[in-house]
Amino acid sequence: MKGIILAGGRATRLHPLTLSVSKQLLPVHDKPMIYYPLSVLMLAGVREILLISTPHDLGSFRALLGDGGQLGLDISYAAQEEPRGIAEAFHIGADHIGSDDVALILGDNIFHGPGFGEVLQHNAADVKGCVLFGYRVPDPERYGVAEADAQGRIVTLEEKPTRPRSNLAVTGLYFYDNDVVEIARSIEPSARGELEITDVNLVYAGRGAATLVDLGRGFTWLDTGTHNSLTDASHYMQLMEQRQGIRVACIEEVALNMGYIDAEACHRLGRQLANSDYGQYVMTISA
Ligand code: TTP
Repeated sequence: MKGIILAGGRATRLHPLTLSVSKQLLPVHDKPMIYYPLSVLMLAGVREILLISTPHDLGSFRALLGDGGQLGLDISYAAQEEPRGIAEAFHIGADHIGSDDVALILGDNIFHGPGFGEVLQHNAADVKGCVLFGYRVPDPERYGVAEADAQGRIVTLEEKPTRPRSNLAVTGLYFYDNDVVEIARSIEPSARGELEITDVNLVYAGRGAATLVDLGRGFTWLDTGTHNSLTDASHYMQLMEQRQGIRVACIEEVALNMGYIDAEACHRLGRQLANSDYGQYVMTISA
């Protein structure tokens, strides 16, 4: 399975923070936001990753992550000239996807929960149709909302419904079979001029080929789109670290645990950051 991180957009709700810096490079406690979605793909077992961002920001992502070789990954880069919708990722990423399945994750989505790696790996194996990940929210009318039958097959999918049929919001993580490239080519821009991911998902739902995985209680899905939610996300991660002694989305640790790099390589990465708590943590877990 190939991976795509979509990390463009305008991030107008975070102005002036994002006037000159990409939202997905802003700090969430101790690390750049992009580490969180990157670690999700890594946990899913995905190692060939295309990072899509604005022409302005691509260089900064490249400076941060390079070709991914230091993490046992293969990271490549492509520009989205204008934010013409999430589904444009499959136009831009068509060559990268080739004849494979693909996992798409939005660069500003943060997931954290027990057993997430197993959930990801289970659902990433041999994708048929599409797999969406639902999270219970108190205000579903703000999101894409899915309703599924007892087998998890999606029966309705609505974008920002006034009367939501469930409280399961569709999160920014999506697994697709290879048909997604053709389907994304077949959809038309919406009234706001964007290629909507919901329209892609509706094609799959119409075929009876869209599955919803309920992330369940005890799981955390964090939004980072506004000043308050960004600060809340930082506080959450700070609390995890201080109370549980764990660091969420430490990409060096994930690479080590997944067997992408060995302890010596991990320790070397930690040493490069040795002046920070983060670097010390990486050195400790690989000692
Ligand atoms: P949004 O939160 O819808 O948009 P935004 O990030 O530009 O923020 P704002 O509403 O404050 O202006 O986007 C969700 C994610 O998808 C975010 O990570 C940006 C990304 N995105 C793209 O990279 N390209 C696009 O064409 C769109 C629509 C979104």
